[in-house]
Amino acid sequence: MTRTALVTGGSRGIGEAISRKLKAEGYTVAATYAGNDEKAAAFTAETGIKTYKWNVADYEASAAGIAQVETEIGSIDIVVANAGITCDAPFHKMTPQQWKDVIDTNLTGVFNTIHPIWPGMRERKFGRVIVISSINGQKGQFAQANYAATKAGDLGIVKSLAQEGARAGITANAICPGYIATEMVMAVPEKVREAIIGQIPAGRLGEPDEIARCVAFLASDDAGFVNGSTISVNGAQFFV
Ligand code: CAA
Repeated sequence: MTRTALVTGGSRGIGEAISRKLKAEGYTVAATYAGNDEKAAAFTAETGIKTYKWNVADYEASAAGIAQVETEIGSIDIVVANAGITCDAPFHKMTPQQWKDVIDTNLTGVFNTIHPIWPGMRERKFGRVIVISSINGQKGQFAQANYAATKAGDLGIVKSLAQEGARAGITANAICPGYIATEMVMAVPEKVREAIIGQIPAGRLGEPDEIARCVAFLASDDAGFVNGSTISVNGAQFFV
């Protein structure tokens, strides 16, 4: 039977590459998005992947959206918690709102995405939870106290869920992308971006597909004993 995957933030950036890859691997895929209707419509028209609009920071909206996906396309076997935002500022300039927005979306959003799906995975004795963290959750980053806190928190969630889900046939793993060529990284001032690329031994930004291929592996039956892991995909920029 075809397995079903949900990818949050799945119509743009790294999430788009993940949605496309999982579809190419034969999964039925649903992608969520938060705001860009035009992009989501174009993505659905081109790929045939259904898109659903909700704010991952809102638990009720997430639970209702997930129930709708499960009614329309089937029980979710694979969840990729990918949706995330940045609100970068040096700490002395960071506002409580910038802190809260990033925590709500990137950390609480991961809870809101996985929690409504988890009981079904436990009942069916199969699940793949894949959280897209970041190199900056591993090493911290100037102007990202909020973002780095959430991405480090993601690793704690995954390691806990790995222990809770293991006997129920559920794995939970994190991927820590380095700097990948997406709109998020392109929004960094050019001078800063060039300096960052200078710190990457590979000498280049990563490609979204390089993350998507890792997701496909973690989603597969071959990865059944890979549980609680953090896979770094960063061109040798940082080692844990
Ligand atoms: N390391 C050390 N110093 C840095 C720095 C860094 N990475 N980035 C900026 N600075 C310094 C500047 O050189 C400048 O110093 P001077 O005042 O001595 O010239 C100072 O910090 C800038 O201070 P400002 O008060 O002017 O800063 P600002 O309020 O204008 O904010 C910024 C600028 C938000 C920090 C901007 O430089 C920026 O966006 N930096 C990039 C942060 C970053 O790397 N974000 C990652 C985004 S990609 C991502 O998050 C995806 C992922 O998972 C990898």
